[in-house]
Amino acid sequence: MGIVKRKIAVDLGTANTVIMEDDKVVVEQPSIVAIDRRTEEVIAVGDKALLMHEKTHENIKTIRPLRDGVIADFTAAQEMIRRFIKMIPPNNVVQKIMGSSWQMVISIPSNITEVEKRAVRESAEQAGAREVYLIYQPMAAAIGMGIDVTQPEGHMIIDIGGGTTDIAIISNQGIVVDQSIRVAGDEFTQAIIDYMKNKHNLIIGERIAEEIKKKVGAAIEQLENPPDPMEVVGRDSIKGIPKKVTLHHHEVAEALKNSLRVLEEAIIKALSQAPPAISADLHKHGIHITGGGSLLRGLDKKIHRLTGLEVHRAENPLYAVVYGANEVLKDLNKYEFMFV
Ligand SMILES: Nc1ncnc2c1ncn2[C@@H]1O[C@H](COP(=O)(O)OP(=O)(O)OP(=O)(O)O)[C@@H](O)[C@H]1O
Ligand SMILES: [Mg+2]
Repeated sequence: MGIVKRKIAVDLGTANTVIMEDDKVVVEQPSIVAIDRRTEEVIAVGDKALLMHEKTHENIKTIRPLRDGVIADFTAAQEMIRRFIKMIPPNNVVQKIMGSSWQMVISIPSNITEVEKRAVRESAEQAGAREVYLIYQPMAAAIGMGIDVTQPEGHMIIDIGGGTTDIAIISNQGIVVDQSIRVAGDEFTQAIIDYMKNKHNLIIGERIAEEIKKKVGAAIEQLENPPDPMEVVGRDSIKGIPKKVTLHHHEVAEALKNSLRVLEEAIIKALSQAPPAISADLHKHGIHITGGGSLLRGLDKKIHRLTGLEVHRAENPLYAVVYGANEVLKDLNKYEFMFV
């Protein structure tokens, strides 16, 4: 009785890690690690670590090891990946007793360095992977959105994640233009925190700002289906006492204006770098947006106004990359050209 070989697809995101096995999402966790300051030991990862985040006492710190789309903390990242893989439920008793040997397709940011690539590979191997295939996220996202990347047709993919926004034009099985910026979900959250402080003298934490972004977040002021305003409670920055503010979506649009301008400039820059033949393809196919940040209300419309191109949002923006990695996993021969 040998060790059972299992196949998984992994999207290692700066905000969320998603793992699929047998066409099903089996792990979906925030990419967060809680560490004991005294011993430097990892206490918890994922959801459990997120609960400790912001409520940390002096002996515990939480970190996001992949924060800016690159591996910021090697050891913590390694431990996090190892524990996420351990969370995959065993399919049977044999696996439970013997452990598993893994074949993994892992999607990585396209701007990752050689050192970081090695770090991802080694982390996976430490976690029990026998075969590791690395693929670039924009390619994975394209496949996950149903685009046939083997065709000589140009497509623009914008993946707005937590730490980074990746703007890529792919064609002929490869990435033709690649623009990666640090303006994404985290930056939007920070912009909301700053806005509340400057405009309302209200101090709020990251968790509340995230909630604002999801509940009343908007990229433009005029929305077809505007959300109800939200009651936000924080601390008055002048008086120090708790205070409540009613927040409308158009204020969030204002809060995000500068961050979105950076995003818009990067999109225009990427479009202007496209070879003419590919510009024609983009005109035909429009722009595909994905990643959690693409869920921001009205962002599709904003990008449409900017470019005049049709904008399609992925059906499931939080899963497009892992869906793509999962397709690759099912047919390694077909997608061999994608391996990093
Ligand atoms: N409904 C929503 N509206 C706006 N933002 C959202 C929404 N849902 C999730 N997000 C944001 O999406 C981001 C996470 O997206 P995603 O899971 O695609 O990132 P990631 O893949 O982990 O990051 P990266 O691709 O940068 O490595 C977070 O900043 C989160 O706040
Ligand atoms: Mg991502």
